[in-house]
Amino acid sequence: MNSRVQDMSDPFLSPIFDEADPSRAVLGVIGLGYVGLPLAAAFALRGRRVIGYDLNAERVARIRAGIDETGEVARVDLQRALDCGLVPTADPDKLAEARIIMVCVPTPITRDRRPDLGPLLAACAILGPRLARGKVVIFESTVYPGVTEDVCGPALAEASGLVVGQDILLGYSPERVNPGDKAHRVETMVKVVAGQGEAVTRALGQLYGELNGDQIHYAPSIQVAEAAKAIENAQRDINIAFVNEVALICERIGLSVHDVLDAARTKWNFLDFKPGLVGGHCIGVDPYYLSYLSQSIGHEPDVILAGRRLNDHMADEVADRIAFRFREVSQPVRRPSALVLGAAFKEDVPDLRNSRTPQLVRRLCRHGFQVEVHDPWFDPKDLARAQDLTATAWPGKAFDLVVIAVGHRAFLERSPEALLALVSPGGMIADPKGLYRNVRWSSPVNYWTL
Ligand SMILES: NC(=O)c1ccc[n+]([C@@H]2O[C@H](COP(=O)([O-])OP(=O)(O)OC[C@H]3O[C@@H](n4cnc5c(N)ncnc54)[C@H](O)[C@@H]3O)[C@@H](O)[C@H]2O)c1
Repeated sequence: MNSRVQDMSDPFLSPIFDEADPSRAVLGVIGLGYVGLPLAAAFALRGRRVIGYDLNAERVARIRAGIDETGEVARVDLQRALDCGLVPTADPDKLAEARIIMVCVPTPITRDRRPDLGPLLAACAILGPRLARGKVVIFESTVYPGVTEDVCGPALAEASGLVVGQDILLGYSPERVNPGDKAHRVETMVKVVAGQGEAVTRALGQLYGELNGDQIHYAPSIQVAEAAKAIENAQRDINIAFVNEVALICERIGLSVHDVLDAARTKWNFLDFKPGLVGGHCIGVDPYYLSYLSQSIGHEPDVILAGRRLNDHMADEVADRIAFRFREVSQPVRRPSALVLGAAFKEDVPDLRNSRTPQLVRRLCRHGFQVEVHDPWFDPKDLARAQDLTATAWPGKAFDLVVIAVGHRAFLERSPEALLALVSPGGMIADPKGLYRNVRWSSPVNYWTL
């Protein structure tokens, strides 16, 4: 699985490197989502012509109108990028103009939690016929080591009729952006790059260096770069699983995990992770890419899968603890009403991918609660349709139970009294993340946290 290093004396390669000059090569970006659009816009803002292709024509139309509904690219920046050279399109033929193409399509998992390489293969099938000799294809999608060269390479070769490693060259540069995170952007983070051979790797460094002031880490092979990304997210998943497990232990012995963590993190080398529900397109998904590879080569990835198992069940565990505590402290009610605050997979993003709220809601329903969900980032009708749950605007009535599932700033900006107003007399506030644990409530309320 080593990167194939091609003969650098091949004369056809030189135009690639010449055109990595900021002022020249036209770029292509396939997949204009959370990753692809900010990347395409950033290059356009630096004066490059960027063909941004997405098969979702509606999304392309909105981007053309200056709207990024993921909230990652501000309207003013998107408009400037469009004025500078970003060409959003749903016409794949336009990709033929691009010399260096970056593939940023989703890499989800199947129902049985195996890598679903369908979107990547579809992107290769679309791109292949539009490739020509001398082009570079860089993959940014998160994969397990080997996918770029052993899966995408052959797919591109078949679709293009070209020889990968000779006619066209591959690269990999993992993406580290984090939805809703304004500090860690393509312009501010170190970028890991690797290509088929040293010269391509250097060219990729030069290219991405335009965006982030040359903060480039040159990985020795594509597989190393792929593996680095896979373990970054698996490591985070395992660390969160550990504090989640600690939280469950603490809860059973009547300690707040938040108090325990406050004390523990005063040690210089204690790793500061917080308990929570792990959703989204990355942390809860990428470890399955690594575990799939591991199992396929005969190693059982016990640690990775144990972390996944725990995090996959955390929403059920939290719902069970809440229901148990509710029965202990509240007046018996036949079908208690519950309001769950937050449906996005994490705070302050309009992103429902693999959100754990539906799992939490289903479990609360099994405990007999009648559940409504509010999330200020979504229109209730859209939310209800997308998640198959009962959604509401900020309610004007009170509930027996209020669960703060996601710590959106919009919730925290409301006063604690506004939250109290949502709780029926004798009802309970469940705040797994401990966001309100230092609040002095103006009237007595049953409050539970992990
Ligand atoms: N979201 C993140 O913060 C993040 C961070 C790091 C890495 N990643 C990785 O980056 C990749 C992309 O993630 P994302 O969050 O941007 O996904 P996304 O769902 O936000 O965007 C993907 C876009 O690709 C389009 N698309 C799908 N198949 C296509 C095809 N065959 N041709 C053209 N367009 C296609 C979709 O319509 C969508 O607009 C994934 O591998 C993900 O794991 C994501």
